[in-house]
Amino acid sequence: MATREVIGSEFMASLASSVLDLTEAETLPPACYTSADFYAFEKQALYDREWLCVGREAWVASPGDYFTTSIVGEPIVVARDMEGELHAMSSVCQHRAMLVAEGAGNARGFLCPYHHWAYSLDGRLVGAPAMGRTCNFDRKAMRLPKFKLELWLGFIFINFDADAAPLAPRLTAVEQAIAAYDLSSAEGPRPDAPAKFPWNWKVMFENNNDGYHANKLHHGPLHDFVPSHLAEFPDSQPAEAGFLRYNGTLHADASFNATQKALLPIFPGLGEADRNRMVFANIPPTLSLVMMSDMVIYLILRPDGPESMEQDTGLLFAPGASKVPGFQHKLDMNMAAAGAIIAQDMHVDELVQVGLRSRFAPRGRYSWQEGAQGQFNRWLVHRYEAAYAAGVRA
Ligand code: FES
Ligand SMILES: [Fe+2]
Repeated sequence: MATREVIGSEFMASLASSVLDLTEAETLPPACYTSADFYAFEKQALYDREWLCVGREAWVASPGDYFTTSIVGEPIVVARDMEGELHAMSSVCQHRAMLVAEGAGNARGFLCPYHHWAYSLDGRLVGAPAMGRTCNFDRKAMRLPKFKLELWLGFIFINFDADAAPLAPRLTAVEQAIAAYDLSSAEGPRPDAPAKFPWNWKVMFENNNDGYHANKLHHGPLHDFVPSHLAEFPDSQPAEAGFLRYNGTLHADASFNATQKALLPIFPGLGEADRNRMVFANIPPTLSLVMMSDMVIYLILRPDGPESMEQDTGLLFAPGASKVPGFQHKLDMNMAAAGAIIAQDMHVDELVQVGLRSRFAPRGRYSWQEGAQGQFNRWLVHRYEAAYAAGVRA
């Protein structure tokens, strides 16, 4: 389909039915999940403007620590300089575009392996061999392109837009609701290597955002204590940077393992209400949190194409949790259950993407138990419409 057909006035008008009251709303057009043109539009409408989670501050705890990642094909490096300040930058060498850093580690700077241009931890070009005869070459004026950076509850967010307004003021409702978990001081290891999935990032986001499937797809002893009918959807405004979903549990301190009860230390600040529900906090387009009494699972969704994405999946625990006797064995019990549940979700995600490519893909209707999909649609369409009004196409 040509660009003008996918993202034109008719297409934009068709989004309106996805932001109606949930009782009337229908799902987004399937092209939003499959079209290369829509992905190009979305990169500008969302990823060029929104705050994007790239990792945890704990991954770069010491001076010289760095890690790399990429979002919508943009290679990114995050580093802590010798003064302790954090920097987020493009890792693309400004000579001939080799990446100056891979993986993660500790370094005094970045030496591009190709021709040995050298960059400081804050991205300044500090060395460029044999460039003395090159005209109009001002080494001191050159650097790795820098991105805005903000910390929120220990998560590192970046923004490609140098003029972006701060994130935290648009997350006050979410922050208040999850304050008792004190995620800034929660601890957890750096996730394993990212997984790569053959589906659109919104398929993943919506699956994590969906309580309707809880006691259907996941029916059984590992999940039945989080029944769909105990879903709650606190109100949110589309201009906010995130939104919440609660799901009551049939007993306190429920957790995903064969005992159905939390095995690890409970986050110390949690009150009665928190301990009788699971909390899902969504900060689109990249961060999704699944919060239980003893463990928080965070997903960092990083699309790399219209129908593919990478994901970092991390865990956070109460401070000191990893020191309790049998921590690893108890965690293994959680992960065995989580693995079984996640396998069911992955199977669905993969086949939903196949379905979305079909000529018979629907504009579907919603159950009241899908309130968070309505919030997600409003968050998305608000930004799609703003970008379209500003002249963004594909
Ligand atoms: S591409 Fe980096 S030094 Fe040449
Ligand atoms: Fe699921």
